[in-house]
Amino acid sequence: IQSLKGVHFVSTDQLSKEELQGLLDLSKYYKDTYKAKGGLKPKPLEGDSMAMIFQKRSTRTRVSTETGIAMMGGHALFLGPSDIQLGVNESMRDTALVLSRFNSIILARVYSHNDITELAKYATVPVINALSDLHHPLQSLADLMTLQEHFGKDLSGKTVAWVGDGNNVLHDLALGSAILGMNVNIATPAGFECNPTILAKVKELAAKHGGKVMTTSVAADAVANADVVVTDTWVSMGQEDEYAARLKAFDGYQVNKELMSKANPNAVFLHCLPRHPEEVADEVFYSPQSLVFDEAENRMWTVMAVAAAQLGKVE
Ligand code: CP
Ligand code: NVA
Repeated sequence: IQSLKGVHFVSTDQLSKEELQGLLDLSKYYKDTYKAKGGLKPKPLEGDSMAMIFQKRSTRTRVSTETGIAMMGGHALFLGPSDIQLGVNESMRDTALVLSRFNSIILARVYSHNDITELAKYATVPVINALSDLHHPLQSLADLMTLQEHFGKDLSGKTVAWVGDGNNVLHDLALGSAILGMNVNIATPAGFECNPTILAKVKELAAKHGGKVMTTSVAADAVANADVVVTDTWVSMGQEDEYAARLKAFDGYQVNKELMSKANPNAVFLHCLPRHPEEVADEVFYSPQSLVFDEAENRMWTVMAVAAAQLGKVE
């Protein structure tokens, strides 16, 4: 994955199959190596620093990145909305140019994807998209890593079913699943479909890598014979005003035992977290089928792999 050196990490579809698998292999290597008692603890990021811009809240992305970078010998700075001049006294362009003089990488969680594009345009160091309204590529890496740990490395022919909002998390999961040759079923209520340009890209990637894509507004149809059932909050950050309307629109989309019973008997459940009970019942969320806490842990090993690859410090 030397090809990722100096490259901005913006969305999953920018990765070739080899690059995606390379990042997943490196993530697994870090997980095995850093967890091994008495094992060699590589510190490839000694002397490196990462600026982490957060315009929104975060538990997993912030803590996994800060911890993972420290583990690799680097330093990560948390820059929340009221910590820096960005957005109040300073533009994204100037912020990008200045942070590039201090830091080896800039990670950013933003509202509008345009902010990531702007950051990537002007930063002279690699940028990591840590969630925008369109993409969450760090999450798809963790999801795919979790699935490979569970099912084995070859996921081709397996079916992933998304039930819920056509959002940022779906976009990258669908793109990444298609790259690995999986079938992608998507159930979203009318009016909450995923981005059509991204869906077209998912279909193109699926055709290239041997998978199929289906979309529906019937949750049970997407889940039928699926190996993986995935959902996310119905109300993403920034959509809080729409809470009541969304709850109504997503009625019938809760992932519960009954819906899971339509999937393959060995099907697993994923959720990027944070989770609300309306989109997934406790009986599924805390069941043995649920891999959600492995998935959360894998956010750390995968972001470590991305940073090391961007800096060309892959061991
Ligand atoms: N899954 C995820 O990105 O969680 P946070 O919002 O807590 O970072
Ligand atoms: N779709 C959610 C994901 C949170 C990790 C959001 O954008 O708020």
